[in-house]
Amino acid sequence: ESYIMEPVEMGGMVSVAHRGASGYAPENTHAAFRKGLELGADFLELDLHLSKDGELVIIHDDKVDRTTNGNGFVSDYTLAELKNLDAGSKFHKNFKDERIITLDELFSDFYGQIGLLIEIKKPSKYPGIEEKVAAVLENYSDLSSVIVQSFDIESMRKMHQLVPDLQVALLMKRSASQLSSKKIEDLSSFATFINFNISHVNKHIIDQIHSFGGKVLVWSAKDVRSINKAYQYGVDGIITDFSIWPLEDEIFI
Ligand code: G3P
Ligand code: CA
Repeated sequence: ESYIMEPVEMGGMVSVAHRGASGYAPENTHAAFRKGLELGADFLELDLHLSKDGELVIIHDDKVDRTTNGNGFVSDYTLAELKNLDAGSKFHKNFKDERIITLDELFSDFYGQIGLLIEIKKPSKYPGIEEKVAAVLENYSDLSSVIVQSFDIESMRKMHQLVPDLQVALLMKRSASQLSSKKIEDLSSFATFINFNISHVNKHIIDQIHSFGGKVLVWSAKDVRSINKAYQYGVDGIITDFSIWPLEDEIFI
């Protein structure tokens, strides 16, 4: 386990456990989500794909190879087949019983205890995935601690139309300097967050997004220096695999 022991100034920054507390447990599994909760993260981040039988399943890649003992595309497996895979041993043998879980299962176990930052992966590969996510959200009246995000801007425009109360976030592929003020204004009309890779932001762009009423989360903070930089830039939160214990509060970074 790799803990960062130096104190870090978090100020009001929100802490998000990336793919769950994926520094300590297999990413996107119940074990990683439980660990994120235990460590005091404000949100769990997770990635969604669709199974062959149209179920919303939590896994990062579009293939099962990297994180399970299976091979091939998630979309070629039914949920029952995905449930037969070992989603933990590739991380460590102690996690051999971890299984791929569904978005419904995540909500049953964690909604109300911690915020949920749900990333839709490759929405263009899964027509109708936004409606399926909206159908899950319909069961929950208070969505103030739920955010849906994607690299696909049009998918998030659609998500906002389907569930107007929901906060949506846009993940930016490119450097902040390539985002014009006009573009930020357009994106801020439906997105609450515009999120960046931590190495792609600068203070100017964060100030601009704030001036349009938007917020910024950055991923994936891996060291104290980058977290301090993010803090100085005034970002609203950090998405990270690891936790630290600064001098005062217990904080997840
Ligand atoms: O939450 C942002 C971050 O998760 C995006 O990258 O590849 O980890 O899904 P990735
Ligand atoms: Ca993600």
